[in-house]
Amino acid sequence: MLKQATLHQLKVFEAIARSGSFTRAAEELFLTQPTVSQQIKMLTKAVGQPLFEQIGKRLYLTDAGQEVLTVCRDISERLSQLEMILADLKGLKQGNLRLSVITTAKYFVPRLLGPFRHRYPGINISLQVTNNQRVLERLSENLDDLYILGQPPDNMDVSLRPILENPLVVIAPHNHPLAQEQNIPLQRLAEELFIMRESGSGIRMAVERFFKENRVAINVVMEIGSNEAIKQAIVGGLGLSVLSRHVLALEGTKGPLTVLDVEGFPIQRHWYVVYPANKQLSVVARTFLGYLLDEGKQIAQQTTLEIMHKK
Ligand code: PGA
Repeated sequence: MLKQATLHQLKVFEAIARSGSFTRAAEELFLTQPTVSQQIKMLTKAVGQPLFEQIGKRLYLTDAGQEVLTVCRDISERLSQLEMILADLKGLKQGNLRLSVITTAKYFVPRLLGPFRHRYPGINISLQVTNNQRVLERLSENLDDLYILGQPPDNMDVSLRPILENPLVVIAPHNHPLAQEQNIPLQRLAEELFIMRESGSGIRMAVERFFKENRVAINVVMEIGSNEAIKQAIVGGLGLSVLSRHVLALEGTKGPLTVLDVEGFPIQRHWYVVYPANKQLSVVARTFLGYLLDEGKQIAQQTTLEIMHKK
């Protein structure tokens, strides 16, 4: 009965077929020659036909032996594939995923982590939320698996993939005199007070560059190191600010804050997922990257679609 053939017998058979000799196969597998002969005898019995024929000093495969060899190689190939899959699963079950993201990415990344953790409940995720400069520092120190940022480094060789649009807009209190105006001239902003992010912030860099390029001098009255705190300050009447449109993700523009329709805005930007070009990503990190660029991106697009088109 063929089913009585064992994997061990097939392995011995394959070694003989490949090396053309019982002696060499025995050496290769660290077995004695009588053991090898015994294994082949049992396999031959299971197959019901001779597998080899000896002509002179040489050993030849019979037709049956040839067929057994083909299947043997298939099985061996499938077993190594299985081995890889099992290693991946094991890696995924026990893995850690370390992410470092800029402040605005917190408006979409945590939402994507839910379905991902559901699928791979054994993965422990740590999420650092900080500004662009600090994310770049962590990247150069190789502290995390993947990084999401808006201002890629120019002094480092990285792998870089865009994820989503991250436009910057002028945010004002709902009752601001300009709230109902359309196509407000950029120069008009010079009459307003502004709240700015801290230095090291990617938003701040982009905003400063934008106003400089357009030769508009804005009046910055305050610096705050948090998008959420800036929103509170705007509601409190301290001034306007240029922030990511995504900071209104939960409340939309029907809440206490609104987006002003200013000439030249939004400032178009993107979120990128980045890692050092020469980094060997872990199985977990590769899996998350694949998820992020495919399903994750779709989830984020759906959840941010509404806010992106809300006036
Ligand atoms: P930041 O980055 O937190 O460094 O300002 C946010 C962004 O670029 O959207």
